[in-house]
Amino acid sequence: MVQLTLPKNSKIQTGKTWNEKAEKGRWKKFVIYRWNPDDSDNPSLDTYWIDQDDCGPMVLDALMKIKGNIDSTLTFRRSCREGICGSCAMNIGGKNNLACLQAIDDIKGDVTIYPLPHMNVVKDLVPDMTNFYAQHRSIEPWLKTSSPMPPTEWRQSKTDRENLDGLYECILCACCSTSCPSYWWNSDRYLGPAVLLQAYRWINDSRDEATGERLDDLEDPFRLYRCHTIMNCAKACPKGLNPAKAIAELKKLMVERRV
Ligand code: SF4
Ligand code: SF4
Ligand code: FES
Repeated sequence: MVQLTLPKNSKIQTGKTWNEKAEKGRWKKFVIYRWNPDDSDNPSLDTYWIDQDDCGPMVLDALMKIKGNIDSTLTFRRSCREGICGSCAMNIGGKNNLACLQAIDDIKGDVTIYPLPHMNVVKDLVPDMTNFYAQHRSIEPWLKTSSPMPPTEWRQSKTDRENLDGLYECILCACCSTSCPSYWWNSDRYLGPAVLLQAYRWINDSRDEATGERLDDLEDPFRLYRCHTIMNCAKACPKGLNPAKAIAELKKLMVERRV
């Protein structure tokens, strides 16, 4: 078997233990990835103890507790704390998830937390989403029309609206794309499941009049066809969406327009 050696500066070190558990309480150990671009140290795994009797039930509650009471330098993104904004996506216990939707009690043993995999890290649990957002921008995620504007608004039948179910709910958290092996290796050229689900959302919108040009834009060996139906994306989505199905629909549309 090929043995790979990591560069010295990417090896993760055992970090600091910030506090100890006390006698009383329901204590849980959190092991969290730390990396600060402002010093020359390697990344480390720091340890924190949280008394669950004195903390909210979700992993985000524990992170807030750590930041507020134990270590104010711990850096992570969060906003809505209810699975709407997508900003608290991270790798918890080996799975990508939203910290605000992950119950601490559902994790057996210690809670290990890393940033989303295969993204550059800005600091600690904050991934660099620049490429992801640029890819989203590239599919022009807005209604494109050429017909004259109707007097009031662009209308849709109930059925046409229902065709967007399973697509419009995406919160662009990137849990799916960062669990996709094809995206890990080709994120510079493959759009990945989240952005392709969004591409399909606009193609599938009865009001949109740019289907041909949107499909032309995806007709590329990398942008769309790097999906190999491994299905990690559907397993990872915290909103229960199925990007792999949307990608399959896009491939079907590509075939249909050729015949
Ligand atoms: S089904 Fe496609 S997009 Fe989803 S994880 Fe697999 S390769 Fe990636
Ligand atoms: S499809 Fe699901 S996992 Fe992927 S970005 Fe959207 S909400 Fe997140
Ligand atoms: S804080 Fe908004 S999704 Fe978790």
